[in-house]
Amino acid sequence: MAKVTRIDHVAILVADLDAPLAFWRDALGIDVSHVKDIPTEMAQIAFLPTGGSEVELVKPTTADSGLAKYLEKRGPGMHHLCLEVDDIEGMLAQLKAKGIQLINEQPKVSAEGKKYAFIHPKSAFGVMVELYELPK
Ligand code: CO
Repeated sequence: MAKVTRIDHVAILVADLDAPLAFWRDALGIDVSHVKDIPTEMAQIAFLPTGGSEVELVKPTTADSGLAKYLEKRGPGMHHLCLEVDDIEGMLAQLKAKGIQLINEQPKVSAEGKKYAFIHPKSAFGVMVELYELPK
């Protein structure tokens, strides 16, 4: 059986980075490790490591992406929780067998070789859950 090994990150959707950084970085004191443009997601992300996991501030960079529409509809706030798993294909098969609604039936692969997929919030009690399998 595939296993969840840790929380990798919590993603928070924001309209800009400056105001949220005044809270997350300046008030809470979490350092930003880097800010990166992710063209495939049409987003710019600030990474704030917190021990074994990270807070990601996700800012849409185009007006018509799924992220931009989500932000427009619901305003800023938590977007998803990401769990690292040891075997993403195994986990997706296991979830599917239990009737869990998946957004990605097959994992996508990032530029860094990370495999990832999303579980629909309808099946996860209102939380969008991302799964990661990091390259070995
Ligand atoms: Co994520």
